[in-house]
Amino acid sequence: MPEQTDSLLEEALQALEAASDAAALQVWRTGYLGRKGQVSELMKLISTLPKEERPAFGQAANELKRTLETAFEARQEALAREELAGELAAEGLDVTLPGRPIGPGHLHITTQTLRQNYAIFAEMGFQVYESPDVETDELNFGLLNMPPHHPARDMWDTFWISDEIVLRTHTSPGQIRVMRERHPEPIRVILPGKCYRYEQITARSEHQFYQVEGLAVGHGITMTDLIGTLTEFARRLYGPERRIRIRGSYFPFTEPSIEADMDCILCLGEGCRVCKQSGWLEIGGAGMVHPVVLQNGGYDPEEWSGFAFGLGVERPAMLKYEIDDIRLFYGNDLRFLRQF
Ligand code: DAH
Repeated sequence: MPEQTDSLLEEALQALEAASDAAALQVWRTGYLGRKGQVSELMKLISTLPKEERPAFGQAANELKRTLETAFEARQEALAREELAGELAAEGLDVTLPGRPIGPGHLHITTQTLRQNYAIFAEMGFQVYESPDVETDELNFGLLNMPPHHPARDMWDTFWISDEIVLRTHTSPGQIRVMRERHPEPIRVILPGKCYRYEQITARSEHQFYQVEGLAVGHGITMTDLIGTLTEFARRLYGPERRIRIRGSYFPFTEPSIEADMDCILCLGEGCRVCKQSGWLEIGGAGMVHPVVLQNGGYDPEEWSGFAFGLGVERPAMLKYEIDDIRLFYGNDLRFLRQF
């Protein structure tokens, strides 16, 4: 009886079109597709029909049901879209307007500082050499003249990955890597990179920070070359009137070892809060490469000599820009980053 299914189809589609909100849709669904709805009722008629008419009727009824289900879903989606459009219109939001352009951004303050370092050292003939953040205990300590249980290891609070693997606590292991790769050629490189220390995070100390290591190996290199290089660096970065002060120090991988200070860039040596009234700011550790380290790198210390230094990156930037909290560097707050 296709007439019956046809007329039900027509009526149902009209009613569906008239349903204009979610509640009306549910009423429609129950009325037509529900367990006691009109389609179910129609299907019950099957048993009253002569045998030969049943298959055709059954098929038509099933088709009707599928058609109505599809129509229901389409109507539901259309209503949801209309509702959303209504909400957007009420909010006064025009989604067809072009979006706000995304700005090109700019380099992070650390990257800018690093690049200033690279440029200055490049002019003095230093190449940039990169070495890995994850190091072996042997490179981070052993080959730098700190065998297992050497007390100097305590100078670095270390993140251990396993018994033999560490997150490098300083960029110095790169010295061994570059020497082993380059020997027996002379070397003049800087080794910039991130270092990691198992430290309490405070306004003054982070557990990750950058260093710029320097290494020069050649014939007849002396402490004078080291002091000259550091002085030149400080003057190019902070102004030609900078003065450098050298203090004796200790590092296992240099002999002799020094610490270099420059006169305070804020008070020019008068004494202020930033330099703690001393007039001097620390710029880094340095020294003449220890004979054992030269040897570990493949250079005969009888023939070769060298100097090395390790400079901070964030701390000097903090002084220069008067940043009072080191955590700001990697906190990813745009209000901070946009200032540089
Ligand atoms: N690696 C040292 C540190 O992190 C810094 C340093 C001192 C590097 C003296 C050097 C050096 O190359 O000669 O504390």
